Amino acid sequence: MASGRGSNLQALIDAGRKTGFPAEVVLVLSDRRNAYALERASKAGIRHRHFAPKDDAFFLRMGDEIESCEIDLICCAGFMRILPPDFVSRFAGRIINIHPSLLPSFPGLRAQKKALDAGVRVAGCTVHFVDEGVDTGPIILQAAVPVLPHDDENTLSERILVYEHRIYPLAVRLIAEGSVRCIDGAVQYAGDALAEQRGFISPVSE
Ligand code: GRF
Repeated sequence: MASGRGSNLQALIDAGRKTGFPAEVVLVLSDRRNAYALERASKAGIRHRHFAPKDDAFFLRMGDEIESCEIDLICCAGFMRILPPDFVSRFAGRIINIHPSLLPSFPGLRAQKKALDAGVRVAGCTVHFVDEGVDTGPIILQAAVPVLPHDDENTLSERILVYEHRIYPLAVRLIAEGSVRCIDGAVQYAGDALAEQRGFISPVSE
């Protein structure tokens, strides 16, 4: 599910096309008719649909489409709407999101600006299971990214995005392989999942 340019969606599409990757993007939904994410899906030959968020049944209709396509995992990739409790419980433990901060710091919009305003020296990104809060669900993976002296919102966002595109496909792979699950609101890891996560935290002195 995406609302905008869809670069994380592209990272998932590309990962899904690599030999041996245990998942593929089969459906792209957007609340914005002109989202470039829909164009990316079209170019990749992936089923895609726009749902107009015009009434309360919006999430019901999206959920019905997701069920009819027998989707195992829903990835929010720059989807700019808060999921209502009904939708979250309908797909409990099967919705993940990527956020451009080291959660639980800086949830919500313009996380990179909030990080700069707060003066943090280490920023980053987080993949987490979605619960009923805003960017609050159990954390699956994180990557740390340095804040450099002359960073502005754009330069920091770009540096973080590079790592978003790495950890999002990795998180999907771990879930598809059964190495990561969400049980009763907590993340459970099996096998080497945690060791792999360490491999994806970037050196803060980059
Ligand atoms: C990303 O920074 C993501 O973390 C946030 O929204 C942005 C979406 O970018 N949730 P894109 O549409 O995937 O390029």
